[in-house]
Amino acid sequence: HLGAADSVVAWHRHEGVVRLTVNRPKALNALNEEVIEALETALDALERDAELRGVLISGAGDKAFVAGADITRMRELTAPEARAFAGRAQTVLKRLERLPVPVVALVNGFCLGGGCELALACDWAVAGDNAVFGQPEVQLGIIPGFGGTQRLPRRVGPAMALELVTTGRKIDAAEALRIGLVNQVMPQAELDTYAETLGDELRASAPGAVGTAKRALYDGMEQPLDSALALETGLFALCFAGDEQAEGMAAFVEKRPARF
Ligand code: HXC
Repeated sequence: HLGAADSVVAWHRHEGVVRLTVNRPKALNALNEEVIEALETALDALERDAELRGVLISGAGDKAFVAGADITRMRELTAPEARAFAGRAQTVLKRLERLPVPVVALVNGFCLGGGCELALACDWAVAGDNAVFGQPEVQLGIIPGFGGTQRLPRRVGPAMALELVTTGRKIDAAEALRIGLVNQVMPQAELDTYAETLGDELRASAPGAVGTAKRALYDGMEQPLDSALALETGLFALCFAGDEQAEGMAAFVEKRPARF
């Protein structure tokens, strides 16, 4: 069902850059099992796509990125079911994060709870000026369960993450930019044009090097500095064993664009 316009995760691929759109606009794109399953199917394809250069994620409509996990669904869960639901979603988000290409959230509105956690699993986020962020779970008597208690402090620091998670307070795009939750804010109407520009940028970089760089960052961030630096040295050397380094440097010396 990939690509079907009525899928809960719509899929559009253009020259190696895939746009995924969480597509339940009537529920502000809330994440239920159907969406998680559609993301799993999408990841099965993305992980096998040797020509993939980037993944851009947004929500359908102009009101929401993703307003959270589906509360009407979660309302019925027993504790074991809640564990399974969160565990499954966490696995999906980890797979998304570890794709060997940049994965970017284009946040077009409400980005709450599980939606904020989806954005945090992306390598970085860009927001429309109408975006609203928050982890309001404590207002529902729960805590973030799709990685928010772990990825939010890694992105914005522990004190800011503690404040957001324990108050459940919502913040606007300007505040999200200030605390480093998003990299950039622009008028919401410009997000689509920005996606094109970013896509061109992502296609221009050496794909093997990009994947290796992601590995160095994510694996390294989990390690003490000395072993992380050793990891970097090994991965840096690995670049010299492939074709991309020869082509990239030849192109520079010959004053022509590189062909990766
Ligand atoms: C299910 C949702 C939803 C959600 C919105 N809707 N968010 N349905 N789950 N998370 C539905 C509404 O029920 C409504 O359906 C329709 O979308 C439009 O939303 P409204 O509330 O009418 O819009 P508005 O008044 O503009 O308010 C927008 C909003 C509000 C501020 C975003 O919808 C809201 O507070 N939503 C919940 C946000 C939230 O708490 N997210 C965190 C969830 S916990 P109807 O049928 O009435 O039209 C979470 C946990 C993750 O994500 C980890 C789990 C393991």
